[in-house]
Amino acid sequence: MVLWTLLLGLLGVAQSLLVALTVSYESGRMQDDVDAIAAEAAVQLRRELQQSMQQLQALSWAAPDDPDWRSAVADLLRRRPELLHIERRNAAQRPTDGADTAGRRPLFGAMPRSDLSMDTDLACLAAQRQAAPQFSRSYFVPQPDGSGMEVMDLCVPVLQAGREQGFVVGSYGLPLLLDGLMTPGQSRRTELTIVEGDGARLARAGGPRGAGVYVAERLVDLPGTSIRLRADSASGRPSLIPNLTIALVLGLSIALFAVVLMLARDVRRRAIAERALAEALAVRKAMEDSLITGLRARNLAGEVTYANPAFRQMVGFSAEELQQKEPPYWPPEHAELYRQRQDVRRQAETPAQREGYETVFMRKNGERFPVVIYEAPLIDPRGRHTGWMSTVLDVSAQRRVEELSRHQQERLQASARLATVGEMASLMSHELNQPLAAIASYASGSLNLLDRPDEQTQPLLRQAVERIAEQAERAGRIIKSVHSFVRRRDQQRETIGTDLLIDGVLPLVRLQARKSGTRIEVDLPERVPRVVCDRTMTEQVLLNLSRNGIQAMEQDTPADARVLTLRVRQTHPQWVTFSVIDHGPGIAPEVARQLFTPFFTTRAEGMGLGLSLCRTVIEQHGGALDFGPVPGRVPPGGTEFRFTLPAARQAESRETAPDT
Ligand SMILES: Nc1ncnc2c1ncn2[C@@H]1O[C@H](COP(=O)(O)OP(=O)(O)OP(=O)(O)O)[C@@H](O)[C@H]1O
Ligand SMILES: [Mg+2]
Repeated sequence: MVLWTLLLGLLGVAQSLLVALTVSYESGRMQDDVDAIAAEAAVQLRRELQQSMQQLQALSWAAPDDPDWRSAVADLLRRRPELLHIERRNAAQRPTDGADTAGRRPLFGAMPRSDLSMDTDLACLAAQRQAAPQFSRSYFVPQPDGSGMEVMDLCVPVLQAGREQGFVVGSYGLPLLLDGLMTPGQSRRTELTIVEGDGARLARAGGPRGAGVYVAERLVDLPGTSIRLRADSASGRPSLIPNLTIALVLGLSIALFAVVLMLARDVRRRAIAERALAEALAVRKAMEDSLITGLRARNLAGEVTYANPAFRQMVGFSAEELQQKEPPYWPPEHAELYRQRQDVRRQAETPAQREGYETVFMRKNGERFPVVIYEAPLIDPRGRHTGWMSTVLDVSAQRRVEELSRHQQERLQASARLATVGEMASLMSHELNQPLAAIASYASGSLNLLDRPDEQTQPLLRQAVERIAEQAERAGRIIKSVHSFVRRRDQQRETIGTDLLIDGVLPLVRLQARKSGTRIEVDLPERVPRVVCDRTMTEQVLLNLSRNGIQAMEQDTPADARVLTLRVRQTHPQWVTFSVIDHGPGIAPEVARQLFTPFFTTRAEGMGLGLSLCRTVIEQHGGALDFGPVPGRVPPGGTEFRFTLPAARQAESRETAPDT
């Protein structure tokens, strides 16, 4: 602002100076003009008067009675229009003869010559004294028409043979003297006057009146008197606008001011725009800086050209440290692989967008951590691909949580399995009782037979031992079924026939069913479908659902109606549905609402984990678990639990199933 004021001030001063200079130059030029006119007029006037003085002197040499005198006078009066009257005087100053310019009224027609002769007499006296022509002072001669004229006389003494003979007097009309002193051009612009000492005008010539601004005076000294010549220019002080030069300078100044003003406005607008831009930039920077996801820009060579604070904090390197040929956050063991990947991407014809790929970075302290990167090509305003912009998410915490929950899930499942087994232990002991009792009785029988050894006992003994072996094997099978169920821990997905899955849980289901006398029915289609699943988990689901069904029928269901059906159907090319159907009392709506809530149970010894685990497992396989009353049953009763598992692909089934 100060600078602008200063600039405008300086400009103002410079412009005023320029205008003043132009004005003063103009006035100087005018004054010079007037001076020149005055000087020229003075010189000219003096020359004219001198010439006419010589001509009058020539007249004086002629004798008074010379007959040629009159014609010489007439001739002179004709040649010199400013000479209005010529007279001869005798030594006593009495006019003896005179002539006026032809075609004019006589100069002294209105007033007698003797009344106007005082100045002339004085001049003649002086001429007589000095024996040389003398001019008189000017005097006013009234004219018959009421006007008048300022007249000046020249008195030339006439000497003949050294003696005073008289005088020749010429009367000049002062206004006529001025005629012809200026060129027509000058007389249009300037007034030429003869003035008295006090400034009164005696005669004037020229067109316009003088304005009194540019004035020049010259004194023309003549013998006996002097004439003050004044030139006065008609133009006043230079007025600003009409003068072309000044108008031009003024116009330019105004234009200059306008330009400066426009410039100032432009600069102001620019400053406002700049400020707005800076603010927008600051906001964007603040936004970038407060972002908690890492942002990274890379050029085509793979060098990091920008990294926001979140990214720098994530990897622990400063912005300078990141500007290297190869990023310092590449773990050395993977650097080769990353380099190859980068080369492949750089050589790709069209830059591709990459969504959420996972990789491993290294912090400055050497710690490796998983990140998920979303990357998009950086395209400049001209449409050229200049690099890559990526969002980098540190997923180490997420991975840790996932790992933890997987562990917990596993542990929960294991304990659920153990709980199941614990519950089954009592059933098992009951189950084992039979083979063990059989073994015991066969053993004691065998011992008895051993006490009386003869040929007949031999085959009996053999039979008894065979029975013992059979029963022992049966007991072993029971124990093994439980054992293998508990021990199986591998978590691999495999393609497996649904019949094998059912067979895997059947001994345990039967074990459970035996106590309440429940019949187990297995309903498999002719072409047994195969599924892709984690065998242990799926068996656990089947077992849980079967146990729930059996338990539901233990109380209110009549003994002959206690049937549990395990059904398998291929309901969709990609899905196989398992159903576990009971004849129990069904599920009340308030129970149904909480069925899958962990630890919800209606049984005294139940843990309430069974169904929630089942659903987790099925959903992990991509399938779904639901339940409902058994459709089409009259009277209504029982519950059907259904779940789906992904079917093995046809090709796979054919490969591994030679019968299809
Ligand atoms: N087929 C069914 N018919 C009726 N009610 C059922 C059936 N299956 C489950 N329920 C109800 O759902 C509840 C929860 O079953 P869930 O299997 O989750 O737990 P639980 O069987 O009580 O205990 P556990 O953890 O030992 O399995 C059961 O207590 C029972 O009331
Ligand atoms: Mg249960």
